[in-house]
Amino acid sequence: MTSPAGNAAGASRLVLIHPDDWHLHLRDGKVLASVLPDTARRFARAIIMPNLQPPVTTVEQARAYRERIQAAVPPGLRFDPLMTLYLTDSTSPAEIARAKASGFVHALKYYPAGATTNSENGVTDLKRISGVLAAMEIHDVPLLIHGEVTDATIDVFDREAVFIERHLERLVREFPGLRMVLEHITTSTGAQFVTEAPGNVAATITAHHLLLNRNALFAGGLRPHHYCLPVLKREQHRQALLAAATGGNPKFFLGTDSAPHPRHAKESDCGCAGIYTAHAAIELYAEAFEQVEALDQLEAFASFYGADFYRLPRNIDTITLERRTWTVPEQIGVGPEAIVPFRANQPVAWQLADA
Ligand code: DOR
Ligand code: ZN
Repeated sequence: MTSPAGNAAGASRLVLIHPDDWHLHLRDGKVLASVLPDTARRFARAIIMPNLQPPVTTVEQARAYRERIQAAVPPGLRFDPLMTLYLTDSTSPAEIARAKASGFVHALKYYPAGATTNSENGVTDLKRISGVLAAMEIHDVPLLIHGEVTDATIDVFDREAVFIERHLERLVREFPGLRMVLEHITTSTGAQFVTEAPGNVAATITAHHLLLNRNALFAGGLRPHHYCLPVLKREQHRQALLAAATGGNPKFFLGTDSAPHPRHAKESDCGCAGIYTAHAAIELYAEAFEQVEALDQLEAFASFYGADFYRLPRNIDTITLERRTWTVPEQIGVGPEAIVPFRANQPVAWQLADA
């Protein structure tokens, strides 16, 4: 704990070692420029998802994307983008060696083909990439997993649990030296699996899955801005995620999965999956931790455990949050690319001290 006030329940000020976001979508071009300041004000580093169109599949593409991100960091802020590559059926073991040697590619992302936004080029069958997974194990490059089956006969609310049973148990057995992150877990099954798995298996948890259950999708009508993948689950699962996030277990750490889509792509007859939380990310986690009187656990979850898992140094500077209610704007940006942020027009209980 850093704060003289002890970051305890009832505190009105929280001083945290600068947090990192271990799962973030920044997109590219104009959208990148409009969303990056929100993250760079709150987080020192972030693991950048590679699901652009076309996806970031090579170290050279990641180098160029990293430079575009660095060029978009607002003056006066320091932000380190930690790059990832998108696994396809044709990723080669040689690309893994290049990733390791690059020093700036920190992981590879596995999307089951068809599971989510821009996943069409994802892996069609995990068995096809066994050689690549073996290379990742040898080079000690982490595997980031979108853990949902794409089998249309499986109920959408069960796809995480079925992925664990059909695929993840085997992966963990067959690649005991491969560090893996089950991204954005949404169920008690996911939390329990990671808790019981060996130390090379970890998980990220989003703020929205800590704050909402699936009722939020239908509160007074259909709510496209609460639609993400994996989809929100029952209250009992939210409670299990809160227990995992606040329990002081270093296998669970912060990953927002903040995923901007323009308003028109969400408010549509076939709305995109993704919730934008970067504008209030650490503040929303503070709300969630406060709900279960665990503010004293926030710093380790947000600032220590992820860095330790990725074998990167912990940050040493700090950010300050104050308990001061503010209202989230109705939208971020203007024109056709405007994004509706999480809690649009609604209050958030914590605020960055210099906001
Ligand atoms: O809700 C989501 N949005 N889940 C994902 O897996 C992808 C993400 C996106 O890129 O929009
Ligand atoms: Zn994501």
